[in-house]
Amino acid sequence: MFTKQTIRDVELDGKTVLLRADYNVPLDDGKITDDFRIKQSLPTIQYLLQHDVKLIICSHLGRPSGPDDVANSLFPVAKRLQQLLDKPVGFATDTVGDAAVKAVKALKPGEVLLLENLRFSKDEEANDPKFALALANLADVFVQDGFGVVHRAHASTEGVTRYLPSVAGLLLVKEVDTITKVMEQPERPLMAIVGGAKIADKIEILHRFIEIADFVAVGGAMANTFLAAQGTYVADSLYDKADIPVARSIMRQAAIQAKKRPFIFAVPHDGVVANAVDPTKPTRIVDWSSHAIADIESYPRRVPRSASHVRAHEKILDIGPFSGSFIAGGIQMANTVIWNGTMGVTETKGLQGPVGPYAHGTDIVVQALLGEFGHKPFTVVGGGDTVGYVESRKLVHSFGHVSTGGGASLELMAGRKLPGVEALLDAK
Ligand code: 3PG
Repeated sequence: MFTKQTIRDVELDGKTVLLRADYNVPLDDGKITDDFRIKQSLPTIQYLLQHDVKLIICSHLGRPSGPDDVANSLFPVAKRLQQLLDKPVGFATDTVGDAAVKAVKALKPGEVLLLENLRFSKDEEANDPKFALALANLADVFVQDGFGVVHRAHASTEGVTRYLPSVAGLLLVKEVDTITKVMEQPERPLMAIVGGAKIADKIEILHRFIEIADFVAVGGAMANTFLAAQGTYVADSLYDKADIPVARSIMRQAAIQAKKRPFIFAVPHDGVVANAVDPTKPTRIVDWSSHAIADIESYPRRVPRSASHVRAHEKILDIGPFSGSFIAGGIQMANTVIWNGTMGVTETKGLQGPVGPYAHGTDIVVQALLGEFGHKPFTVVGGGDTVGYVESRKLVHSFGHVSTGGGASLELMAGRKLPGVEALLDAK
């Protein structure tokens, strides 16, 4: 249950509202390549406009070096928002300076203004009280709807709430409620599928998932660190040598859980390897488990063990068919799945289309999650890269919940307090 006041709890009609959104969207040469976060902000904007507010929206974009970093201007977002809302969206060329103050003064009820990138001023991330007050002075009410940034205590997430009545927008409520529910009262069995590049980013949630889930499967480059930690030769695969002790302690924790209750922690048994991340280069399926199918099938002509294992100079770029099927089978048993991180290098395009040679493991997981093998669990998709993948396959509306937050969703799942949520008014 969301414990803070929301836009439904406060008087809004005729007020000037400062809305914090997370429009930190990927840009390629000034063009937005993924507008998921902008689209997800629309219900709150529409609700506010139905209440005839004068609407000021603020956001950060990227990590700009200063006000001249035009590649990180929010201007393309203003244009996209205008298309999506089908109404004019004004743009202020600064955040709290003369241009912003003048544009706010000219604003009429029902009109929308987007301010320039908050991070063009270093005072935003420093949570400078003067900057926070200047933001607050623009409006009567503050609405936090930028779920992706509420794990940061910045001027526009924490500082500003000291000076204005501050409540949550609809996206923030939906994100916090959905993620909290699957972590605290999931419909079991609960499965967590964790991939992506680095263990370091996911240590806390892995610990939490091992405590609460019935089945945890790891994939992606992160799994290579687990493989290396259990003594499997990974040759030139990407892995974090420094995190091998962490991987061992996570596996020990998993082994303890498996002694106490029915619990599975699955590290890949097989993988797809190549000598380079290059779709023109051949791939090979390798199986480092002790029961390599290639070995059994070729009996009595014994295949040398090394032939079915990773060879020198090879890189593991995806999970193999056995591991993909094993995870897909687990999904058939689960009623709730939390999925964070792809199983392989999905961003590499194929020679004949967008699906590359290292995306098959992720694709079989996705097919299972979408019920293509008969059973469809409620799935929460979290994390920036995973959402990018889901978007590229045009599947964003096919899952139970696709989170707009990367770091924020990980912190919420790990059970951390989010400063941008804590700072809002408590529900009455
Ligand atoms: C994100 O993309 O995860 C959020 O917008 C936060 O961005 P940050 O990591 O630069 O603070």
